[in-house]
Amino acid sequence: MNKSAMIEKLKDYLPEKRIKHSLNVAKAAIKISEQTGCDKEKAEIASILHDAAKYVKLADVQSYCDKYNIVLDDMEKKSTALSHSILGAYIAKYEFGVDDEEILNAIRYHTTGKPNMTPLEETIYLSDLIEEGRNYPGVDSLRELAYSGKIDEALANLLDSSIINVLKKKAVLHLRSVEARNYYVEKVKKMEKAASLERK
Ligand SMILES: [Fe+2]
Ligand SMILES: [Fe+2]
Repeated sequence: MNKSAMIEKLKDYLPEKRIKHSLNVAKAAIKISEQTGCDKEKAEIASILHDAAKYVKLADVQSYCDKYNIVLDDMEKKSTALSHSILGAYIAKYEFGVDDEEILNAIRYHTTGKPNMTPLEETIYLSDLIEEGRNYPGVDSLRELAYSGKIDEALANLLDSSIINVLKKKAVLHLRSVEARNYYVEKVKKMEKAASLERK
């Protein structure tokens, strides 16, 4: 299926505003792919489809799991905020014909992130949160970091703030988010240490 057919089909899954978000994510992802070096075409497809399961209701999650043999963990079972990214990977595969594992994993991990993400996973995680429709305090400096290639710094900051948001909402915090956050915070610290040693 080509990209415009995907966007057309997506109308059966998402309201217009969510499709607009997905297309904004694609725009951001194309820009960020210049910094991460990931495949632009894959970044576009992953962006278009990343939220395909966003409007699946909690009561309907189990039927998708039965249909596609999806195994959710206990945290994902309780929260569509978490499960939509997992279900989305299966919908992309079985309903949109995407069989590229790299694209599917970028969809799968777009909500929690994970330690040591691939360039494509990093690109989608970032683009989802800094696309042009997003408007929250600090988003401009995050855009600046990401678009200037400071990918690890942008990820460390965004993972911190998305964990804070989850806590504020009293929502389920997935352990993978914590692991991702620790990984990127540690990575940035190491890079800063190496840079300061170099300066000495
Ligand atoms: Fe999402
Ligand atoms: Fe999204």
